[in-house]
Amino acid sequence: EQLRRTIEQMPKAELHIHIEGSLEPELIFALAQRNGVSLPYPSVEALRQAYAFTDLQSFLDIYYAGASVLLAEQDFYDMTAAYLARAARDNVRHAEIFFDPQTHTARGVPFETVVNGIWRACQDGPISASLIMCFLRHLSEDEALATLDESLPHRDKILGVGLDSSEVGHPPEKFARVFERARQLGLRLVAHAGEEGPPAYIESALDVLNVERIDHGVRCLESPELVERLVREQMALTVCPLSNVKLRVFDVMGSHNLRTLLDKGLVATVNSDDPAYFGGYMNDNFIAAFDALPLDATHARQLARNSFSAAFLGPEQKRAYL
Ligand code: HPA
Ligand code: ZN
Repeated sequence: EQLRRTIEQMPKAELHIHIEGSLEPELIFALAQRNGVSLPYPSVEALRQAYAFTDLQSFLDIYYAGASVLLAEQDFYDMTAAYLARAARDNVRHAEIFFDPQTHTARGVPFETVVNGIWRACQDGPISASLIMCFLRHLSEDEALATLDESLPHRDKILGVGLDSSEVGHPPEKFARVFERARQLGLRLVAHAGEEGPPAYIESALDVLNVERIDHGVRCLESPELVERLVREQMALTVCPLSNVKLRVFDVMGSHNLRTLLDKGLVATVNSDDPAYFGGYMNDNFIAAFDALPLDATHARQLARNSFSAAFLGPEQKRAYL
């Protein structure tokens, strides 16, 4: 109906997309064949059937396995080009794309192979895109610092740094030094916090890491003081509705807190997180949330506006969209 067309047609920015999470089973199989990698699944259908998650860790195990087919620069290019073409169809006009270099360098793939493939696809792509390099929080801060060092020859290709992977037990303060170093290098700062972790992780992402956006952040509602602060600071939250349901942050979409976040004046945005694993790209996320929650066209336009106000775009680029 009309609301669906509004959602589909409105220009929007995607601020929470892990490029490795855009790798569709078909492309995993094609790259496995091209690279002579053997997969523990006999078919695309069998792989897709393994996508039954109970929490973040059960997803991460299969997500890292899927990424094992990425070896050559062209593989990273093809994955990124496929995402950008798909996002453009959803009228995503700008994407700030996460990548996880340590997932690949740990397997012997050179850092430059990863960043050059992804970056070249962004240069050739149909929409504007920039790159946010994420540190894996289940690894040590020293390993994150080494990764930041490895990235320095590619400083011009990287807009910012983030923090992802297993949240609980790996609080933001574990990465205080590497985020301070990144800040001094002029990199923009974001971190996953308050997806499975408590509101205290959102607070330490802000106070210790000095992040400029919170990825997920949906557990902020457990702390009224934190909500008040996030509203006062107009700190954006990159919310991922389908991800939250697939990873059981919420049991069903009807229990998602997106409407409440907006009602409280929080700068929430809608994003796809890992679209190949969670059942949908940008517009699928909007439509799943809008079908299950009391949200209307005014909320849709607010979410689109939030996506551009929270984007790391220059003031003149923002004004063109706002
Ligand atoms: N959370 C943490 N790590 C991730 C996610 C996520 O939603 N997606 C990919 N890596
Ligand atoms: Zn994420």
